[in-house]
Amino acid sequence: MSHPLIEKFRHAGQAQVFAFFDRLAPAGQRQLLAEAAEIDLAEIDRLTRTLLARDAVAGVDLGGLAPAPYERRPEHGGDAVAWGHAKAAGEAALRAGRVAAFTVAGGQGTRLGYDGPKGTFRVTPVKQKSLFQVFAEKIHAAGVRYGRPVHWFIMTSHANHAATEAFFAEHQCFGLDRARVHFFRQGRMPAVSFDGKILLETTSSLALAPDGHGGSLRALERSGALDLMKSEGVDTLSYFQVDNPLVRSIDPAFIGWHVRRGSEMTSKMVPKAYAEEKVGHFCTQRGRTVVVEYSDLPMAMQRETDAGGPLRYLAGSIAIHVLDREFVRRVAAGGEGVSLPFHRADKKIPTVDAAGNDVKPAAANGVKFELFVFDALPFAKNPVIIETLRADDFSPVKNARGVDSPQTCRDDQLRQFGRWLKANGASLPTDATGLPRLALEVSPRFGYDEDSFAEAWKKLSPKPGLTDGLYLA
Ligand code: UD1
Repeated sequence: MSHPLIEKFRHAGQAQVFAFFDRLAPAGQRQLLAEAAEIDLAEIDRLTRTLLARDAVAGVDLGGLAPAPYERRPEHGGDAVAWGHAKAAGEAALRAGRVAAFTVAGGQGTRLGYDGPKGTFRVTPVKQKSLFQVFAEKIHAAGVRYGRPVHWFIMTSHANHAATEAFFAEHQCFGLDRARVHFFRQGRMPAVSFDGKILLETTSSLALAPDGHGGSLRALERSGALDLMKSEGVDTLSYFQVDNPLVRSIDPAFIGWHVRRGSEMTSKMVPKAYAEEKVGHFCTQRGRTVVVEYSDLPMAMQRETDAGGPLRYLAGSIAIHVLDREFVRRVAAGGEGVSLPFHRADKKIPTVDAAGNDVKPAAANGVKFELFVFDALPFAKNPVIIETLRADDFSPVKNARGVDSPQTCRDDQLRQFGRWLKANGASLPTDATGLPRLALEVSPRFGYDEDSFAEAWKKLSPKPGLTDGLYLA
């Protein structure tokens, strides 16, 4: 059969996409044509010539790389007065309703081995609240504290969009105003074989995968989210990942550094826990700020120290950013010199063989293309990096066991609740790492950071006994 789209694919050397077309039922034909219409063939051709070419595998440009400067926390020698000003500026922005929360939740979450949108995974120690509920309650509490309810944008994928919306509906948006919770899907990219041929997942569908968290910038524009923000007077986005319940979803000092410096993109760093920690590294390169992934920075550089002291490339990226709305629009529009580069990831991609039978490959058989949000940093005016304390901002759930697992995350939440209680005079038995010897939980509606907790605790009378299973709400 001939169809203009099929002709276009033939011309581009991608005729294999329609190899089974004539045998498909009409519904299958329609699906394949609709998916094919999403594909930018010129973009695929460009990526094949650049990222797949044999000499492109050599790696990332490390020329002129140096560690990026950052604002130290006051307890580590930073300027306490400047941090105070930043916090006040962030609080003013929140009171003015200028800030929205933004969660990227489109990932496939394969490492955790959990079936369902990752945000529905239960993480808290006593009440077993889901990641989404934790964020919802923090965002609600910040809205109450600053007198302006906060809009929340959530980026999903095609695979988890419906399940995510259904989860929020089932839980009445965890008490948030439904009109302020906005879901939108991220874009997709086709997976290709190592010689650049677009892969079929079945005879009637392409092997399509989410376009990476960097796809969030164009999805914000395409979905109308940026226009909505503008009409609501929101110009600042607080960006965080769905896997990290410890994150200060709304952090006045962070927002304030961004506002006071006239920054278009501000990011948090933590000093790496050890040289080989698998995080991105904040660096400068030819006058720009960049993040170099652990997989791209040679191990010798990751281990380099300053005169035998601390690590030279110390600043680890924990994927927490503040973004200026119009900056997002500029990057989304692309154009001369401002477009995010795609990265390649070699993967096992379920596909079909020449006879149309399903194939589950045992080894990588192709490539997915992904955009990374931190690649926007080099385009940002006045980028700022601030230090944060890992214990108060970062404990992701990535793996089923071991590091960054439900267990380590639960323990880190417990340590945080324990610290807050002890800082306010409660006597709580803990082990040497600060881990309380009993399970307890603080609802974000009671206290979602040390300030709000201290205020709520002070008002509490009489104080509850610290017993196993205590839930402060
Ligand atoms: C990421 C960062 C790493 C950082 C670490 C901190 C990259 C390449 N690496 O690693 O620098 O130190 O987090 O935790 O980003 N997502 C989407 N759509 C996608 C892909 C991902 O929304 O297409 C979302 C996920 O839902 C998740 C987040 O992005 O919220 C992170 O994705 P993931 O692939 O798990 O990143 P990491 O490899 O853990």
